[in-house]
Amino acid sequence: TEQRPVTDTAAQPVLPDAQTVTSVTHYTDRLFSFRVTRPASLRFRSGEFVMIGLMGDPDPRTGRQKPLLRAYSIASPSWDEELEFYSIKVEDGPLTSKLQHIAVGDQIILKPKPVGTLVHDALLPGKRLYFFSTGTGFAPFASLLREPETFENYDEVIVTHTCRDVAELTYGANLIADITSDEMMIELLGEENLAKIRYYPTTTREKSAKMGRITTLIESGELFTDLGVPPLDPATDRAMVCGSLAFNKDIAALLEAAGLHEGANSEPGEFVIEKAFVG
Ligand code: A2P
Repeated sequence: TEQRPVTDTAAQPVLPDAQTVTSVTHYTDRLFSFRVTRPASLRFRSGEFVMIGLMGDPDPRTGRQKPLLRAYSIASPSWDEELEFYSIKVEDGPLTSKLQHIAVGDQIILKPKPVGTLVHDALLPGKRLYFFSTGTGFAPFASLLREPETFENYDEVIVTHTCRDVAELTYGANLIADITSDEMMIELLGEENLAKIRYYPTTTREKSAKMGRITTLIESGELFTDLGVPPLDPATDRAMVCGSLAFNKDIAALLEAAGLHEGANSEPGEFVIEKAFVG
């Protein structure tokens, strides 16, 4: 019989900190989500992020490959046995141009050191919790919306998600539809807690039921009128923000103008901000 070198190492982790892809879902030509195995030792608080990636191309001179890593919010809750991520696809993006082609059984690199500011510990108690997101900035909220603690200390959880078009809202819309209809999730989170969720999706470039940047809808007061809630008030309202740098900056200015102060793990406040890292 023919002698061949053994190249099939599929059963062995070939990457440092390798985790195996268990599912991949594509939403649009710009957006996809995937799930990977979770290292047994990885503990995190819902809302945190980790560094993930793939091996880069070999260096043309030395032939050596280096890991190509980016910060990704963990989109799954802390109790989930797998890890979920929600990602943009950028055609010439060093990581996402490759990452978008991963398939079940492939391996990715995951550095098991979670960090982040979008955690309940960084917020003072309040009555109403706002999640303000754009694009893939929804990811940490996909984690937090499946975390029982999110509902414990608030009467309402208002989730805003702004995308260019309707298809880009799918991941978030499906997630909210799933947690409010899935028996296991209803049992875990509680029917009365799920009733606290107010979902407020908006689009900016395609016609939908609600159009406009959330910043504009805050400034005009339309958001509050639509939801039948009073304007932002530091005595009652708390916010977590995740989107592009420009979005975060604009929302922060509006929250500060309303009298809310930014908090941190070491010093809880009335709002916290995290960037949706991969642009
Ligand atoms: P717009 O279409 O008006 O730029 P992206 O896909 O580019 O990350 O954007 C996601 C969503 O966030 C888009 O609907 C975009 O609106 C909106 N957006 C971008 N920048 C800001 C900002 N500074 N303030 C509010 N919304 C923003």
